[in-house]
Amino acid sequence: MQAATSRTLPIAKQQAKAQRFDIYGPIHKALRRCMGGTLARLGTLDPHNEAERNVVLNDLDALLTLMNSHLQHENDFIHTAIEARRPGGAQRTADDHTEHLDSITSLQDESRALRNAPPAQRPALAQRLYSHFAVFVGENYIHMLVEETQNNAQLWVRYSDAELIALHDLLLASVPPVEMAQVVRWMAVSLNVSELNAMFVDMRQKAPAPAFEAMLDVAQRHMSAARWAALARSLGLPPVPGLVKV
Ligand SMILES: [Fe+2]
Repeated sequence: MQAATSRTLPIAKQQAKAQRFDIYGPIHKALRRCMGGTLARLGTLDPHNEAERNVVLNDLDALLTLMNSHLQHENDFIHTAIEARRPGGAQRTADDHTEHLDSITSLQDESRALRNAPPAQRPALAQRLYSHFAVFVGENYIHMLVEETQNNAQLWVRYSDAELIALHDLLLASVPPVEMAQVVRWMAVSLNVSELNAMFVDMRQKAPAPAFEAMLDVAQRHMSAARWAALARSLGLPPVPGLVKV
């Protein structure tokens, strides 16, 4: 862990200094929050409680599907962009993605095994799934920092912010609405209000009004009243529909 931190720290300092467009930042915050929360819930899961087991495993499966899709978006758009201007530049994180795909398949198998296991086998299968998912989360936390530092450093040298924003817009246009709602749900509880404001200002300019309003509704349902009020105020919206803005 220390080695990984020391490897990426100098680049992280450049990142903070440069204030360039960060294509990874918001989605990675959302995924970190979702992964950390899911790991905690697997840790406290009573494997004999069928209702709890189903809810937690459903959420785990949804996260694994999202991770699979996220990884594909990065391959299709970001890695392709890096490789176009520096062949081999995305090799390290592309290799990580190949391993992550195998891990996701194994975790899906373990989730299914726990879901269908007879009572005597449930505790051991729950512990196995918890342990293996913890390793997956740990590897992804390191992997995402490498992307945010080393891959971003390559993107920033070879692309302007206008080009990176256009690339991000293309990536977003490929994301189905159901997946977008899932991402916004996790961003609502992991980004700060300033970051959420930037996301919704951008969405308001580029997405159809019904899509913007639907995503804003998703965010509101998952935010605390205080955070929602701050976001609504920053967007010039009343915190409660129908109230006149003060
Ligand atoms: Fe990645």
